[in-house]
Order: sequence, then C-alpha cells, then structure tokens
Amino acid sequence: MQKEFHLSQADVKRLADGYGTPLLVMSVEQIKNNYRYLKEHMPRVNIHYAVKANPDERIIRTLKDLGSCFDVASDGEILQLQAMGIRGEQMVYANPIKPVHGIETARQAGILNYMVDSAPEIEKMARVAPGAGVMVRVRMQNPEALIDLNKKFGAEPSDVLSLLLKARDCGLRVAGLAFHVGSQATQAHAYLNALQVCRRLFDEAAAQGLNLQILDIGGGFPIRAPGSAKIDIQKMLTTIYQGLEQFFPQTEIWAEPGRFICGTAVKLITRVIGRQQRDNQDWYFLDEGIYGTFSGVIFDHWDFELLPFKEGPTVTATFAGPSCDSFDVIFREKETVRLDVDDLILVPNIGSYSSASATTFNGFAKARTVVWEEVREGCRLEAVG
Ligand SMILES: Cc1ncc(COP(=O)(O)O)c(C=O)c1O
Repeated sequence: MQKEFHLSQADVKRLADGYGTPLLVMSVEQIKNNYRYLKEHMPRVNIHYAVKANPDERIIRTLKDLGSCFDVASDGEILQLQAMGIRGEQMVYANPIKPVHGIETARQAGILNYMVDSAPEIEKMARVAPGAGVMVRVRMQNPEALIDLNKKFGAEPSDVLSLLLKARDCGLRVAGLAFHVGSQATQAHAYLNALQVCRRLFDEAAAQGLNLQILDIGGGFPIRAPGSAKIDIQKMLTTIYQGLEQFFPQTEIWAEPGRFICGTAVKLITRVIGRQQRDNQDWYFLDEGIYGTFSGVIFDHWDFELLPFKEGPTVTATFAGPSCDSFDVIFREKETVRLDVDDLILVPNIGSYSSASATTFNGFAKARTVVWEEVREGCRLEAVG
C-alpha cells in the first residue's frame, strides 16, 4: 500500500501563520517513498526522473542520492543537473525535437543517448553530434490517458525500422526504442500493447543486423485523482513488470516517471482573499491562481481537490485567482461548503506540472516551497514566524 504524507488542520494553520500563503509544502520522504515503490515493483527498471514534472532542486538531489537517472528535455535542464554534480551519462535527452544549441550543450555534458522520431532529426543529430546514441520514440495510441502525448510525438510503428536503418547509415549508434503511453495512464494494458509492438520492432531490427540494447517505457504512471475511479497501482505495476519479463527478459529497461514521483509529494495552502455573488452563484477569490501553481488546471488538465476544513451543506461555486485578469478562473461549478474571507484551503497532490509552469504574471510572486520534514523536526517555523 502506498502511503501519502498528512497535514492536519493544526499543521496547516501553523504553516500559514509561520510562512504566509500561498505556500507549497513538500515532503522529501514522500519523494523517496514514491521512488522506492517503483523500484520495489519494477526492480530491473532504470528510473530516469522526468525533470519537467517538477525541477525543484530538493527533489533532484533526493533522487540523485537514491541513484536515479534523469530525463531532460532542454539545455536549461541539462545545465541545472550538471551544476548539481549529475553526469551526462546519468541523463537521457528525451525531447524528440531538439534545437542545435541543446544538442551541443548535451554533448559537452557527456549525454550518451538522445530520442528521435523523424528523419530530419536523425540528420541533425548526425551533423551536430556524430556517433551519438539514438533511441527511436514509437507512437502508441492510448486515448484513455489524461494527456495523450502521442498527438505530438512518436514515429508510426511502420516507419520505425527505416528510421533505425537511417540512423545507422548516418553513423549514429542505434541504442533502442522508447514510448510514452500518455500521462496519468491508468490501465496496464496500454503498456502491454506497447511492449508487444516494441517486441516486434526489436525482432525486425535484429533481422536487419541491428542489435537494440535499451527499451524505454516512458512515464505515465498514475496517482490518485479527484473524482476518478480508484487505481490499483500495485496490480498495475506488477502486470507491467510481468510483461517486461515476458517480452524483454534480456533487454536493459528504462522508465521516465514524472507525476508518480513528485505529484503526491507537495500540498498547497491557499487562502480565500475575496468573496462575491454573481448571477446567484458564490465566487471565491484565492491568493493562488491559474498563473501560479494552479497552472496545472490549464496545462495538465488536472482537477485539484480543495479541502477547506469546514463542514456543512455544499453548493456549486466559482474559484478564481488573485490576478486582475478575467481568464484567471480556476474552477467553475465546483462543489464546496460555504467559505469566508481568510479561510485556509489545503490542496493535496499538487507536486507535478503545477509550480513548474507557474509564472509571476501581474506581479504575483510564485508560491514558496518549504520542506515538511524540516519544519516538523526543526525549530524553523518559530524562527521564521
Ligand atoms: C518524454 C517524456 N517522458 C516522461 C514524461 C513524464 O510523464 P509522467 O509525468 O506522465 O510520468 C513526459 C511527460 O510529458 C515526457 O514527455
């Protein structure tokens, strides 16, 4: 059973009084537990944390210390990791389309393997990084995922062999295949279908003399989502792992989890700063909005749970952010108890694709992040307050 870190109402009040709001509270223990849970259920899988999900240095450092590798998608991410002492060979450049300056930075950092999904990218790689290792990203259909990344990325399975051969003929090292079944993928069968497609492609490549070494099964591993059916994550991971043992017993396996590692490790404390009645409906204005941590509502299509520590009859209301922009509406028709100005709201599972895409639009500072274990165990709260 996977555990989630807990903040009581008293903790939330103490944190808000001590640090102000909006405030992000991160559990480093939760990051460790999530990483270990994946390793426990998929022991042979070499985890490459997808930095884009949350590039907070405390997360990266924790994972580095646990022996994780990293999926990077830009020169900015590469330089961030390099400055933290992470070597190039611990990273995969997983963006299938890369600017030349990104490839040059990756080469200088010593990155060995790069994703590609098109002939022009292979030509670019051969020109800018001769002899580099490439992995072809395969397009997998999975309409059940919350975010279908295959609308933007991946080569059709029928094109993969010719891309592998082209890479070889261009002098690149043909390292393997990769796929991503989509983010918040709740069904093991999406992975099993992808494994079967890749098994066939590995065999076709072998028949052409190409000895593929690595299969990267991407990210997509889900977390608890409000309003969705309960996920048996243990069963899901076990089923995927059985598929790996069946179809790829000898192959080096990588995965690129993002959401699963950091999603449950951060909670937001936000405050009601305004209340208004419009067209017979309550509007609540929070001190965090769409341009801040709630950017995940837009970019990640996520429906966050709001826990106000109040009881009573519920109504539907609109929740808006603090900026002076009419687009800054977080939720419409959200079921809630009646709230008052100054009430605190706890938002769980807001660690992925949220603070990573927050802005300072309209002069609102990004929410700061405190580490829960440091607050709980030290005297920092009293010192700051
Ligand atoms: C190439 C790649 N790998 C990994 C991930 C992480 O996916 P998730 O957070 O669903 O695990 C993403 C997400 O966009 C991605 O694009």
